[in-house]
Amino acid sequence: MAIALATTIAGLRKASAALLAEKSRASGYEGTAGGAAGPARLPSLGLVPTMGALHAGHAGLAQAAVEHNDVVIASIFVNALQFGDPADLDRYPRTFEADMALLEAAGVDLVFAPSALEMYPGGEPLVRVAAGRLGQKYEGASRPGHFDGALTVVAKLLHVCQPAVGNYRAYFGQKDAQQLVLVRQMANDLNFPVEIVAVPTVRSAEGLALSSRNRFLSITERDASLVLSRALRLLRDRADQHIPLDPESVLEMIKSQPITQLDYLEIVDPQTLEPRAENCRETPFTGEALALVAARVGPVRLIDSMPLGY
Ligand code: PAJ
Repeated sequence: MAIALATTIAGLRKASAALLAEKSRASGYEGTAGGAAGPARLPSLGLVPTMGALHAGHAGLAQAAVEHNDVVIASIFVNALQFGDPADLDRYPRTFEADMALLEAAGVDLVFAPSALEMYPGGEPLVRVAAGRLGQKYEGASRPGHFDGALTVVAKLLHVCQPAVGNYRAYFGQKDAQQLVLVRQMANDLNFPVEIVAVPTVRSAEGLALSSRNRFLSITERDASLVLSRALRLLRDRADQHIPLDPESVLEMIKSQPITQLDYLEIVDPQTLEPRAENCRETPFTGEALALVAARVGPVRLIDSMPLGY
């Protein structure tokens, strides 16, 4: 079946309800006993929020959602609220036709691609989600207000896509580790009836985490940026061997690449994102942690992360 497109919230709700009803009928669920295939169950819905300019990382999210759910919606919306710099918003890549083709190939049923006016009819919303203390660290420190804006749009998307009945899941990439933790925290703290599912980072053959902004890197800058994933892999290997992580030596390695301007490298608790310094230096690494890194390479700010000890 061809992929459907909705550009309004009313259109989205109608199309999504029709898809869910169709799946209900197909699986024999009419509020009575099951069909020939076994006991009937309510159809599940998966949501994949994106800002478009899609690549294999987004496709990984869509595929995971298609695997787990009866109906999958992907959203494409470049959310002005989470951009500090208007120039960054203007030059954010927009590749709508290619995005639709990628989502269709992944098996997504419905794309929600609203205008800014549809999402924010009165202009910037007066009331927003506050990301709190966790939203002010790391990425939040260099992009004030970024996570308030991102969580506000994620909250809206989770609400407008929420099915009337049945399991509801939303998919987020581990690459944006702080965003993932904050979305989880918002869903827990504010009782959103949705399961937040984390999807592993998709990388280029050389190790660079795929990102819509990578297209702005020159060949030299792209090569230089590989030091970040090399650094993360080194930390992961040390964690796997239960030896001290020695982040200082990794810092030196990154700093030896002059084109890559390091912003931060932190080893943190995967749930709270609090630094785990005590577990890094002399003592052998034990338990689980997350390495977070951010750097500016030429015109682009790159972020990456790696689970340690999993
Ligand atoms: P965007 O940058 O388009 O990313 C959409 C989703 O794709 C996010 O969950 C992100 O973590 C995931 N993703 C990006 N690159 C990935 C990669 N290489 N491997 C795996 N997953 C990857 O993140 C946003 O948009 C926005 O902040 C959004 C949540 C849509 C709110 O506006």
